[in-house]
Amino acid sequence: MQPNRVLSGMRPTGALHLGHYHGVLKNWVKLQHEYECFFFVADWHALTTHYDEPGIIERNVWDMVIDWLAAGVDPGQATLFIQSRVPEHAELHVLLSMVTPLSWLERVPSYKDQQEKLADKDLATYGFLGYPLLQSADILIYRANRVPVGEDQVPHIEFSREIARRFNHVFGKEAGFEGKAESAIKKLGAKRARLYRQLRTKYLEKGDTDALAAARALVGEAQNIPLGDRERLFGYIEGGGKVILVEPEALLTEASRMPGLDGQKMSKSYSNTISLRETADEVAKKIRIMPTDPARVKRSDPGEPEKCPVWQLHLVYSDENRKQWVQKGCRSAGIGCLECKQPVIDAVLEEQEPMRERAQQYLDDPALVRSIIADGCEKARKLAQETLREVKQAMGLSYV
Ligand code: TRP
Ligand code: SF4
Repeated sequence: MQPNRVLSGMRPTGALHLGHYHGVLKNWVKLQHEYECFFFVADWHALTTHYDEPGIIERNVWDMVIDWLAAGVDPGQATLFIQSRVPEHAELHVLLSMVTPLSWLERVPSYKDQQEKLADKDLATYGFLGYPLLQSADILIYRANRVPVGEDQVPHIEFSREIARRFNHVFGKEAGFEGKAESAIKKLGAKRARLYRQLRTKYLEKGDTDALAAARALVGEAQNIPLGDRERLFGYIEGGGKVILVEPEALLTEASRMPGLDGQKMSKSYSNTISLRETADEVAKKIRIMPTDPARVKRSDPGEPEKCPVWQLHLVYSDENRKQWVQKGCRSAGIGCLECKQPVIDAVLEEQEPMRERAQQYLDDPALVRSIIADGCEKARKLAQETLREVKQAMGLSYV
């Protein structure tokens, strides 16, 4: 059990744009240096809402992986894989479903919200109801304890915590737990065993949560402890049963409201996006034809940046000096709109330059992308199988 393992997924439903870059990918690139990271293509999750147009998913899977790589996600640092290539997710999903109350699924806010929002789709399906449980399986199967997501996904992480807790409660009990835990402590070695006991007592008798965290870290770092014993040691700190599934925490990604070409939030559904690997000419053209403050009909008409979507982009890309230049120049009609847009064009192009370069290498050699994913799937699968073995044993499914 790794002390800090990060996992996140993305649904392959369209080309990624600057909104994804500023809102998600930049964060992944940062996290990959700080944690052991797993990033995956959530193709089954995409099917829950796009089952009637599977071509979209197929077209976007590889492009999305290339977008990740282009953005700087480094397969040398992070493990990249495709959900459906690790069928253990589905097996855990079905096993967890045995102890998942229907009412828990029905009250997840996205269930009703999305049905209303995507009213043109029939989402009264078993698969869509189970969306958060499949997501729980994605997370729990790697015992990931940190899940970088946006605000909208927090209820899903909360749901995953409840499922892990319920699973451990129902299946973590075993005959002779206490005795087994005591002999597991001995495997820590004399020094660690003493420390474990001290920390456990501090937590159990005084409710000291620092001691709880320290004891967990101690177990997390201990070498050569069999998995079953590790689970006992984790559970025994708090007095309960085995901790087979780890409760994850949301690593809330700061909301980035990347403005689109029309000033609304950048989103495929508003057709106001600049995609990650858009050509330089396309980027320049899209920004040149962006609407500006409607008051500036003629070059000599003054305007107000606050009424102009280009200003929103300056807020993302410009330093204080340049923002001053825009404010003054716009209000006094000292600069023209094309002049005002040029630094934004330059900034976007500069940001995208390394992305285009990195992407090209993978476009030229698709086999490279396939092999990155094959390696990632293999690594992910090994871990997933390990957890699943424990889960099946706890559920009485490891017949010999
Ligand atoms: N539901 C997530 C989204 O729409 C995607 C996702 C699927 C995910 N499984 C996950 C995110 C596991 C984090 C962890 O953004
Ligand atoms: Fe917008 Fe800049 Fe034109 Fe002002 S000068 S209206 S901020 S594009």
